[in-house]
Amino acid sequence: KSHTKVAVMGASGGIGQPLSLLLKQSPLVSQLNLYDIVHTLGVASDLSHINSKAKVHGFVGPDQLKSSLEGCEVVIIPAGVPRKPGMTRDDLFNINASIVRDLAVACAEVCPKALIGIIANPVNSTVPIASEVFQKAGVYDPNRIFGVTTLDVVRANAFIAELKGLDPTTVNCPVIGGHAGITIIPLISQCMPGVSFPTDQLKALTERIQEAGTEVVKAKAGAGSATLSMAMAGARFAISLIRALRGEQGVVECAYVRSDLTESKYFSTPILLGANGIEKNLGLGNLSDFEKQLVAASIPELKKNIKKGEEFVQKN
Ligand code: APR
Repeated sequence: KSHTKVAVMGASGGIGQPLSLLLKQSPLVSQLNLYDIVHTLGVASDLSHINSKAKVHGFVGPDQLKSSLEGCEVVIIPAGVPRKPGMTRDDLFNINASIVRDLAVACAEVCPKALIGIIANPVNSTVPIASEVFQKAGVYDPNRIFGVTTLDVVRANAFIAELKGLDPTTVNCPVIGGHAGITIIPLISQCMPGVSFPTDQLKALTERIQEAGTEVVKAKAGAGSATLSMAMAGARFAISLIRALRGEQGVVECAYVRSDLTESKYFSTPILLGANGIEKNLGLGNLSDFEKQLVAASIPELKKNIKKGEEFVQKN
């Protein structure tokens, strides 16, 4: 199979534009549909002048929402409002919940078999929202809906490489749990190549990875949250989905998915990807005592975030 049609929902934003650029540059994408409530025709026109293979189409406003999703096999959702200083990802809930719900309703109707990557925060709640919408529509397949947590892995790799003087492109540290604060659990004991840190440094590194998004929010001083690194991570995840769709074996990414490995109904772990989404959940692996404590601490928070998402769909 050599044609993959990808939709980016929220394509005009700080994440959406560079994410669309990176996907336009990928030889694996045959068509790129850009949807947003503003500016997509301009973004699409601009990107269409790049001499790479993907055909780019812009769709703007709710009237064009459904046509933007027709025939799409991969849908990436960075639509929503970003964080400002002092806000947590959970503070975004009230606005982003309805955006994700409306986009998920359209996906469930037009492309129920697509692989869906959700970037819109709070991911811990927006993935349950999309899942509930698909369930209501009778088309839910838990193997096809992913919360994109790739940026947590990318950050862990970068920070570990920095501390150890390693080539950052060769470091791979799994990150499990969720995508906010204490729910972000870097498994430094499973990092490749193996690394070890004294306890206080391990704690500081873990906290830096957990609070890395806030580091960017503070530095941007009101202008938003991570966009460029998130776009890179989102494109990496989308391209991994496409490689797996095309039959490549052994593609693994961490992602926040439906899972019964812990008491949390959704939990990020390394996932072996296949043509139907999750081929195999690779699980938590052997955790150190420190990591076991982090997992235990994350569960009540995750449960709360998940319940909030599920109740939003049930009530609205
Ligand atoms: N449908 C489609 N797009 C929408 C909708 C909607 N209902 N509502 C808003 N958008 C678009 C905006 O028009 C804008 O182009 O989503 C885009 C968001 O872009 P930014 O405001 O620049 O936000 P960004 O930094 O890209 O973050 C987007 O990703 O990381 C998360 O927390 C972040 O949830 C936020 C999202």
